[in-house]
Amino acid sequence: MKVLLVGSGGREHALAWKIAQSAELTELHAAPGSAAIEDLATCHDADVSDLDGLVELAVKLNADLVVVGPENPLCDGLADKLRAHRIAVFGPSEMASRLEASKAYAKDFYARYKVPSARYGIFSNAGEAKAFLSEFEPPYVLKADGLAAGKGVVILEDRAEAEAEIDAFLSGKFGAASQTLVIEEFMAGEEISIFALCDGQSVTFCGAAQDHKRVGEGDTGPNTGGMGAYSPAPIGTAELIETAMTTIIQPVADGLAKEGAPFQGVLFAGLMVTPEGPKVVEFNIRFGDPECQVLMKRMNSDLLPYLKACATGGLADLPPIDWDDDPAITVVMAAKGYPGAYEKGSVINGVDKVNMIEGVRVFEAGTARNSKGDRTANGGRVLNVTASGETLHYAVDRAYTAVDAIDWPDGFCRRDIAWRALKTH
Ligand code: AMP
Ligand code: GLY
Repeated sequence: MKVLLVGSGGREHALAWKIAQSAELTELHAAPGSAAIEDLATCHDADVSDLDGLVELAVKLNADLVVVGPENPLCDGLADKLRAHRIAVFGPSEMASRLEASKAYAKDFYARYKVPSARYGIFSNAGEAKAFLSEFEPPYVLKADGLAAGKGVVILEDRAEAEAEIDAFLSGKFGAASQTLVIEEFMAGEEISIFALCDGQSVTFCGAAQDHKRVGEGDTGPNTGGMGAYSPAPIGTAELIETAMTTIIQPVADGLAKEGAPFQGVLFAGLMVTPEGPKVVEFNIRFGDPECQVLMKRMNSDLLPYLKACATGGLADLPPIDWDDDPAITVVMAAKGYPGAYEKGSVINGVDKVNMIEGVRVFEAGTARNSKGDRTANGGRVLNVTASGETLHYAVDRAYTAVDAIDWPDGFCRRDIAWRALKTH
């Protein structure tokens, strides 16, 4: 099978690493890929926002399957354009992607299909939005309707601050993305990310993980794209996953199919485990980054037949995905300053050496090579130091041993990834 992978981050490096091991792969291409992905795939100059350019490349390569990593091209309709050229694609249509692209659409959708989620209201008028706050006890949860690069959710204790934030949202804090806002009930509990592949009809469980969104240890400081993840998460018991698959994932897949938007790709459910059971915080329409890195590290099955089945049907004919029992963790090493301003270009040494440690694999989220061939930092989140081990403790020890062996004075990481699980185990 000739595969074209779209994207360039740590998630796509992990996908490339896994796809490259497939017995069914003949050629792996990436658009644009990265300096690290180049070791696994033929990389092509490409801009992921240039949908026609990507389609042209897929046609020229005569790709048997296009695998799309990031959400933006999917929300803009890349999968539809590829399908119009009869190219098989792992990734949902623009219509199905509204689940991530519009929180207002998603909330109404959950209500239509009785998928458990927080009580809510949708507003584009400030007065009505402010009055609605009286329906809830603090903290107040405000969400921009559209994509806001992970920054569109604000949780505030103080009513006056919440009202000021409503004005900020509606007066264009996130441009068009915040002209409509969702106000919802605060849900207390522990969060878990559940992944499920879907071929438009059937769903199959594709792992669970916990992310660490805040930049600082003990979950403090500003939100980021994710500072580390581990899988499995002890809170994700077999019973919880079964409940989530039957009361949340399958109804979402069925609802989308019923509305003429069958979902072909990976459903990423961000859930709150509450005393009344799991409830939806949000859905994403692609693999999590960095959650994908730990899922790929733990997956025993050949991924490619599953990705192809999502694109062309027949997922129900494949066996459940087989997982390594060993837990896996990934620690994100970021450039100092992230998620604020940071420098690019500092030299990183030791990555090749730590890749030789048993159970360790570094996925590269934002690296380049300078003229001397050195690895350099080329983004905010730069390395995903991933390790597995017989117990979570071993996995954590291995990951931090690897982190400490990487020579990059301009980088930093959280030292407490997996603290929730370590606390209870
Ligand atoms: P989202 O972008 O919708 O995932 O929201 C970002 C983060 O805000 C989530 O991961 C949760 O930690 C938190 N959050 C969002 N909605 C709620 C809610 N209704 N109750 C409690 N926390 C929430
Ligand atoms: N790590 C969270 C996300 O990919 O949205």
